[in-house]
Amino acid sequence: MRRLAPGILAVGLLVAACQGTEPRAGNEAPVAAPGTVTTSTIPREVTTRALDPRPGAAGIGDPLYPGLGNGGYDVVEYRIDLDVEPEMGTVRARTEVEAVALHDLSSFNLDLVGMEVRRVEVEVDGVRSPAAWRRAGRELVVEPDEAIAAGSTFVADVTYEGIPAPVPERAVPFAPGWRKVGDTIYVFDQPDGAAGWFPANDHPRDRAAVRLTVTVPDDVVVVSAGERTRRKVGAGRVEYRWVVEEPLAPYLLPLGIGPFEERSEPPAGSIPVTTWFDPDILEGLLDPFRRQGEIVQFFAERFGPYPFDRVGALVVEDDGLRAALETQEVSTYTSGSLAWGEAVVAHELAHQWFGDHVTVARWDDIWLNEGFATFSQWLWLEHDVGRDAYDRQVDRAYRVMSGLDRAESAGVSAGEAARQARRAFPPPDHPRADQLFTPSVYQRGGLTLVALRDLVGDEAVFDVLGEWVRRFGGGSATTEDFIALVEERLGTEAAELVRAFVDDPQIPPMPSRGLAPPG
Ligand code: TRP
Ligand code: ZN
Repeated sequence: MRRLAPGILAVGLLVAACQGTEPRAGNEAPVAAPGTVTTSTIPREVTTRALDPRPGAAGIGDPLYPGLGNGGYDVVEYRIDLDVEPEMGTVRARTEVEAVALHDLSSFNLDLVGMEVRRVEVEVDGVRSPAAWRRAGRELVVEPDEAIAAGSTFVADVTYEGIPAPVPERAVPFAPGWRKVGDTIYVFDQPDGAAGWFPANDHPRDRAAVRLTVTVPDDVVVVSAGERTRRKVGAGRVEYRWVVEEPLAPYLLPLGIGPFEERSEPPAGSIPVTTWFDPDILEGLLDPFRRQGEIVQFFAERFGPYPFDRVGALVVEDDGLRAALETQEVSTYTSGSLAWGEAVVAHELAHQWFGDHVTVARWDDIWLNEGFATFSQWLWLEHDVGRDAYDRQVDRAYRVMSGLDRAESAGVSAGEAARQARRAFPPPDHPRADQLFTPSVYQRGGLTLVALRDLVGDEAVFDVLGEWVRRFGGGSATTEDFIALVEERLGTEAAELVRAFVDDPQIPPMPSRGLAPPG
């Protein structure tokens, strides 16, 4: 843990830097869940043709992280069943992955890290049989008895157990995944920690519905997304079931297991707002969550309707990790992140449009999430505190990103300051694998939309952001998709401005603000 501390701080800093310094500112007996028995979606003559099976690829084709996700199928639904002992941290689990084959499959991979696999069955066309499987790094390779025909729906049923552990990853300075702090458990899975607790096609390009069932002692609360039911299952145990119909990327599935209390907040129109929080957290720190509904309505007026049926927050006690994650519907915050006040709440809420409803097609498009959420958080600051606060925030971010602040500090020439800034804050588009969440992705990403707004005005910029959400919501998109949309709606000059902001080694000037790189 000590080894990770400086990195943890760095994540804190990058979100911290986005914030204004404005003064105010189971394995219960496997239940035959509905949908377990699936029927073939293709006519018999297709299934009886001679198959030409080959293994599904071990990666979905992400250029930055070639091993993430898998090829050859598309997940429709995860049915995750966990039986958890929060004190020990042990989990007995069974997950059914229902998927459609994209080509004839002799075998296919799921991402799964750690945990002890006990059994794998595969069901095709209602016929279920045990399957051969082996583990290779973060891959669980499943070889069904018979090849699976392209277009067939199949279910991979994996029984496993163990103590899930975070998955070390170079993208963030700490291991993302399952975290246990005292007897509270929560997940911080971006980018690839979901595979630490359920077998998945762990990539934002493959979204799926989820039925999550978690059985715990009856004094423990389980929090996730979607529609909740809770029932006693005897012997002091209780079963929570969360049904997420709106398909999500695996890393965006929220999970909290602990002594949480629940508070209803003022709604966002007809959208109910709930905050779950650890009762040890000082109540005053939770004040920003009262305004979630108001913030959602503010964004909805600019980006289009809030994309889900409910919204809220899960606030956990922190173990020194200061971070928040935009888990779908219910964002997850450590108590340390509350030091950022409303800025972090606005940031995570904006991600529901940018990151959750529109997901990235490749991880190196991440500025589409972080830059857009940072811009949105500045918009909320402007709305709540005033135009000056927004302008000061933008000015400060530009000075850091361009090296102007270094040039002003003693002993650094303009040229040297600009050079240092270019190295420290590379263009936000296509970052390196270990630079996914660096300040540039957030701040220069956010400045990109500020510059676009300066050029074209509010109406045009919100027209483009609204169209972005309408066109790509429920799916994935790339930087090129965004630039093409800007070109289509706002013309070449606007598209070139965006490209220069996200791709040029040097940050472009912002003439209407009197800002240009030093030298
Ligand atoms: N997406 C987070 C944000 O809102 C930052 C982040 C990336 C993160 N990976 C994480 C947070 C893992 C917690 C855990 O800025
Ligand atoms: Zn973010």
